[in-house]
Amino acid sequence: MTTHSALGYLKRLVFIVAMLTLGGSPVWAAPKGAPWGEKYFPNVELVNQDGKTVRFYDDMIKDKVVAINFIYTHCGDTCPTETASLRQVYKLLADRMGKDIFFYSISIDPEHDTPKVLKEYAERFKIGSGSGWSFLTGPKADTTLLRKKLGLFRDGIEANKLGEHNTSFLVGNESTGQWIKRSPFDEPKVLAWLLGRSLSHAKADQKAELAGYAQAQKIPRISKGEDLFRSRCDSCHSLGAADGLGPGLQGVTQRRDRAWLARWLKMPDRMLEEKDPVATELFNRYRKLSMPNLRLTDAEIEALINYMEAYVQTN
Ligand code: HEC
Repeated sequence: MTTHSALGYLKRLVFIVAMLTLGGSPVWAAPKGAPWGEKYFPNVELVNQDGKTVRFYDDMIKDKVVAINFIYTHCGDTCPTETASLRQVYKLLADRMGKDIFFYSISIDPEHDTPKVLKEYAERFKIGSGSGWSFLTGPKADTTLLRKKLGLFRDGIEANKLGEHNTSFLVGNESTGQWIKRSPFDEPKVLAWLLGRSLSHAKADQKAELAGYAQAQKIPRISKGEDLFRSRCDSCHSLGAADGLGPGLQGVTQRRDRAWLARWLKMPDRMLEEKDPVATELFNRYRKLSMPNLRLTDAEIEALINYMEAYVQTN
C-alpha cells in the first residue's frame, strides 16, 4: 500500500467510525469533498495587518488547526476582553503558533479597520506580525458570508448594532473536518488543550485524550474573588509586579484608595471620559489600551477588592 492510499484508507476508516458513533451525521471527520471541505468554505481574499492578501481557504485554513473570531477594533468592552482571553491561549501554545496552529481575528468593520488600524490594535495587545495570529479585513459582503458559513452570524440586531456581534469563536481542523464553537472566556488551558492536542491528534488514544481534558478542566476550589480574578482579570493583569497587557497589580490596594478602586472597577470607561488623572496617566502608559468595563456588580467588586487585598497580605 502506498502512503497515499494508506492515508486515504485511514481517512475513510475515521469517517466510518465517526458515522457510526454519531448516528450518521459526519460532524467529526470529513474526508475531502465532504460537507466541510474546500467546496464549503469560500476562498475569499482578505488583507492582513501587514497589507498582505491571503485567501481564506487556501492560505488560512487548509491543512491547519485554527481559531477564528470576528472583532472590530473600536468595540468598547467585549472585543478587548475577548482578544485578551484568546491571548492567554496563544501564549500557552507559543511554540506551535504559526507552525501548525493559527489564530485569525477578522474585522467586521472594514471601513474603520484598515490594515494599519489592525496593526496598531495587535501591537496594543503585544501580538507581533509573523506570530501565527493575524488580524484581517476584507469587503463586508465577504466577511458576512464567512460569518454565516462559520455559524457565527447573528441575525436581526446584527444589521444596525455592531456592539451586539457574536463573541463566540470557532476552533477547528480543516483536514479532519472537526469544528467546534467555543467562548473565548472558557478556561484558557482547556482551549489550549483543545487546539494543541485534541484537534491536532484526532486519531490519538481517546482515553488518554479524555483524561487530559479532565485534567485541563480541573480547577481547585477557590474563593469567589479569586474565581472572578482568574476568569475576568487574569488575561490582562498579574497580581505581582510584572506587567501583562495592563499594570501588575502588586500592592494596588495600598496604592489606591478603596473608593477609587471600586469606582474604577465599576466604570473605567466613565473615569477615562471624565479625565480622572490616574486613569489618564495609566491609559497613556499602557499603549492606549483601556481597561474594559466588565459590567461587574457591587458584590463582585467587593469580592475582587477583598481578594486583591488578602493576596497582598499573604504574599
Ligand atoms: C483587556 C484587558 C484588561 C482586563 C480584562 C482587565 N484590565 Fe484592569 N487594566 C487594564 C489596563 C490596560 C489598565 C491600565 C490602563 C487604563 O487606565 O485603562 C488597567 C488598569 C487597572 C487598574 C489600575 C491599576 C493601578 O495601578 O491603579 C486596576 C486596579 C485594574 N485594572 C484591575 C482590574 C481587575 C480587578 C480586573 C478584572 C475584574 C481587570 N482589571 C480586568 C486592562 C485590563
